[in-house]
Amino acid sequence: MPVITCIDDLKRIYERRVPRMFYDYAESGSWTEQTFRENSSDFDDIYLRQRVAVDMSGRSTASQMIGQDVSMPVALAPVGLTGMQCADGEIKAARAAEKFGVPFTLSTMSINSIEDVAEATTKPFWFQLYTMRDTDYVSRLIERARAANCSALVITLDLQILGQRHKDLKNGLSAPPKLTAKTIANLMTKWSWGIEMLGAKRRNFGNIVGHVDGISDAANLGAWTAEQFDPTLDWDKIAKIKEQWGGKVILKGILDAEDAKMALKVGADAIIVSNHGGRQLDGALSSIRALPSILEAVGDQVEVHLDSGIRSGQDVLKAVAMGAQGTYIGRAFVYGLGAMGQKGVETALEVIHKELDVSMALCGRQKVSDLDRDILLIPENFEGRWQS
Ligand code: GLV
Repeated sequence: MPVITCIDDLKRIYERRVPRMFYDYAESGSWTEQTFRENSSDFDDIYLRQRVAVDMSGRSTASQMIGQDVSMPVALAPVGLTGMQCADGEIKAARAAEKFGVPFTLSTMSINSIEDVAEATTKPFWFQLYTMRDTDYVSRLIERARAANCSALVITLDLQILGQRHKDLKNGLSAPPKLTAKTIANLMTKWSWGIEMLGAKRRNFGNIVGHVDGISDAANLGAWTAEQFDPTLDWDKIAKIKEQWGGKVILKGILDAEDAKMALKVGADAIIVSNHGGRQLDGALSSIRALPSILEAVGDQVEVHLDSGIRSGQDVLKAVAMGAQGTYIGRAFVYGLGAMGQKGVETALEVIHKELDVSMALCGRQKVSDLDRDILLIPENFEGRWQS
């Protein structure tokens, strides 16, 4: 068994083990992938201040997100097709999150259904909602999330149309994979993935298949979004969904202070500063660069979270010290899941936890609530100075 010391170790095993189509799906950004790359590389521009001779005993990474206790300020992000990275992937990731004491967010575009995950876990998870043209279907999804005792609805706002990821088109991405000569040749080298997948509970979109009629190709994410996602989504519709849900609402995909103010107006409990992992608007600012202006606009009135680009506990530390109340990992847990199933997700969480804990201590802080910008060296003009 290899010694896993960092998220990159998991990524290497993941790349060998999982069919190329699903590796490429996770590991792509849209078009030139500029935003995808900068989401991570912009964290490197921020430095941590080393402080010494400060009592570092009795440390804790525990915190809260939307009033819920978390063992560290890191949730698992909603990731489509997680159950194609590993058989019953959503169930395994949710169990790992539960064991670790961090929130798990189930994607609308998951393989395991809301009910599958509820049955396999004991604590409430969060449900991510895409709004569809078929409003009855959206209502039914909301009711299913309620019946499953989900403790927050995470509404994604930045994917009414799909940003183009070249590799998905070239690979003919689908769930389950369509058996073309190229795919078969690749699957022949992925035996352990295939054998486990034969025993999986599901191999198609569990929240959709059997719940909606009139889909031309239920296996194709691109076709699905084009046909079903609601291009007319606006703030009024978001307010109505919030009203129907009646519980905690997190709005995901805010990258602009003006939109953050609108999110505040509709009464979001939290917003996620996000560019969808660089998978939607290529050429947008990285999330970490967008964070300061959003905090300045609404940070004292609504809880601000961040996703996109987080691959380490040091990244979490930087985002939280800057002012985010919580962060999300997507790819970082998917690498673990694809590499080693539930154990791999637990390992990813352990790696990030250790990095966060030790780095926080070396910055001279004992608790998440002690973190502030004083431990950071942020370059002047980090957010950019743009012509009006
Ligand atoms: C879906 O959320 C995707 O980014 O593919």
